[in-house]
Amino acid sequence: MTRESIESIRAEVEALKCRTQKEIEEARVRLLGKKGEITALFEEFRTIDKEMKKEFGKTLNELKTIAQTKIEEMKSLVGIEDGGESSKEDLTMPGEPARLGSRHPVSIVRQQIVDIFRKFGYDVAEGPEIEDDYHVFEALNFPPNHPARDMQDTFFVSAGHLNPILLRTHTSSVQVRSMETMPLPIRVICPGRVFRNEAISARAHCIFHQVEGLYIDENVTFADLKQAILLFAREMFGPQAQIRMRPSYFPFTEPSSEVDVSCNICGGKGCNICKGTGWLEIMGCGMVDPNVLKASGIDPEKYSGFAFGMGLERIAMLKWQVNDLRHYFENDLRFLEEFASAPEI
Ligand code: DAH
Repeated sequence: MTRESIESIRAEVEALKCRTQKEIEEARVRLLGKKGEITALFEEFRTIDKEMKKEFGKTLNELKTIAQTKIEEMKSLVGIEDGGESSKEDLTMPGEPARLGSRHPVSIVRQQIVDIFRKFGYDVAEGPEIEDDYHVFEALNFPPNHPARDMQDTFFVSAGHLNPILLRTHTSSVQVRSMETMPLPIRVICPGRVFRNEAISARAHCIFHQVEGLYIDENVTFADLKQAILLFAREMFGPQAQIRMRPSYFPFTEPSSEVDVSCNICGGKGCNICKGTGWLEIMGCGMVDPNVLKASGIDPEKYSGFAFGMGLERIAMLKWQVNDLRHYFENDLRFLEEFASAPEI
């Protein structure tokens, strides 16, 4: 061990210039690693005699401290300057874009329907998902033995008494609640989630969404119903949309009708979406049955009204040609991202 050998390593340390963390690590190993130059000097130091220890002890310790400090310094500097090799963040890099969520197709359609009917002067009402038999069936003129009241079609929360508690099977229950609480005339739509005891398949699900509509005033006629639905169809599916009504049956409306809209894919010529008919079924509707008005304390001699109900998943299916209901509930990003560019609402 000589003063010169220590001085030369010290000069080497002071002149060190590393550009990457890798170079720093190499320098550290070369100087301070197990077989490093400075480590070797310390090994040698153990073997020299006492007099020499006095001479070299302090300088050797200084050299080690200088080397360690230099390496730490370089680490923090290079951390900011090297592009990627360091473990430190490069604050000059462009930020990671935050991934934006997109609206669910059912939400998009619900909002469009709400906006359309708001323009027509309708309010929005909501009701409970856990309902009683009275609001879902009784007040809507369902006869006591109607199959919808069967366990096979309806999820019951508690049965076995006069007014069982159940998960609503349609949003028509909210029209009853609206008639009970709102002043006349009533113009209301009721969007919400409904539940049915169905096996899940491409065409059926045990949870889905509906929008119910109700208009009650003096002298409301079937012509008003037809006009309201035609206007709605044109807003929803475009100005070329046509509607047709087919006679149907619901316990709570008389007369009742099913509504088809002209197929927006083939323009009514017939395609595989409309199964060659040129028409797509979109909703049920009718004139509110006098029994339903009476049950909620409205005089059917003075007032009349219409109601309609449609499934949101179905409308979204027709709008975007979704061929399997299950897509709506699986939260598969590949499906959801298809709606990222749907109209902002
Ligand atoms: N509640 C019916 C259903 O779930 C839909 C419906 C049909 C609602 C006719 C109505 C109506 O208001 O008038 O299938």
